[in-house]
Amino acid sequence: MSLPAVETLRWEGGVDGTLHLLDQTLLPGEVRFRACRDANSLWDALKRLQVRGAPAIGVAVGYGVVLGARSEGPRDASGAASAAERAAAYLESARPTAVNLAWAARRVARAARGAASRGSDAASVLDASLSEARAIHREDVESCSAIGRHGAPLIPDGGGVLTHCNAGALATTGIGTALGVLYAASEAGKRFEVFADETRPLLQGARLTAWELSRSGIPVTVLCDNMAPSLLRSGRIGCCVVGADRIARNGDTANKIGTYGVALAARAHRVPFYVAAPMSTIDPSCPDGPSIPIESRAPEEVTRPFGVEAAPRGVGVYNPAFDVTPHDLIDAIIADRGVLRPPYAESIARVLAGRPA
Ligand code: MRU
Repeated sequence: MSLPAVETLRWEGGVDGTLHLLDQTLLPGEVRFRACRDANSLWDALKRLQVRGAPAIGVAVGYGVVLGARSEGPRDASGAASAAERAAAYLESARPTAVNLAWAARRVARAARGAASRGSDAASVLDASLSEARAIHREDVESCSAIGRHGAPLIPDGGGVLTHCNAGALATTGIGTALGVLYAASEAGKRFEVFADETRPLLQGARLTAWELSRSGIPVTVLCDNMAPSLLRSGRIGCCVVGADRIARNGDTANKIGTYGVALAARAHRVPFYVAAPMSTIDPSCPDGPSIPIESRAPEEVTRPFGVEAAPRGVGVYNPAFDVTPHDLIDAIIADRGVLRPPYAESIARVLAGRPA
């Protein structure tokens, strides 16, 4: 097995450069990049899920603030910082649930404002924004590897591991979060088979997780979402590992719709359920699950999936993109700073304060 050679996105050039995104809506059929040269084009790519997965969204948006900041023509330092702040607010409106988006947007806008307040000119404000975006990118790669290192010992040697959605290399700019743990466990010599929920309605599990795992040589089996409870009852699954889009201070975790059902079935059959995520996915301002904003998506994703008429036109549709798994169903949160255990209100407060997990 090898670590995944997947390039989710790249920035080419200096402050006048271009953001290239692997268009994930075309996978597994076609590998094609979309070039974004302004914030509008990135907003559109985010909305369509051409770039998706909380950490990858954060990295893309970091660069997106640079795209927005430079687009308004010649200005002074303060004008450039204001353009960065406007771009950040605009990009934040693309998707509400993954906190990495707002976290990265605000971080780059803050760097722009900081450079302006030091009296720099507009060019230095753009330079400061780009170096902050690059730092977010570097940190994402590093935190995926750290998550892998911390989580690998939790993966049983032999048997199956169940995952939901795609929390892999495609959802990050490194080796992934949930799948990062599996890549690291495999590198450490453990042998296991991954069961990937297909993840209705947009099939991130079938299209993306199965694609990247099969490229890396880890055995993978796809199942429809409604088959997970019986698979968990069968005794073939040693643990479940999923990613996260936002983790509240008490450990309640928003992730792709369907995750909550997997956690309930895992608890019923006494299978450990783990969440893997970087610190940037923990939202210190969010007390609990009910406070997490949940994105609602277009009805056509359910009634006409991939262009196929699957339900009568005009029927009501319930299509939340995420659900919240309550903290008491989560056996551990595998973060880049270590493995957090319940009670999460305490372990999360500890790592947020910079102390060891
Ligand atoms: O709608 P998506 O595809 O952006 O949702 C992605 C997920 O829910 C992932 O599981 C989550 O972002 C974790 S990614 C490391």
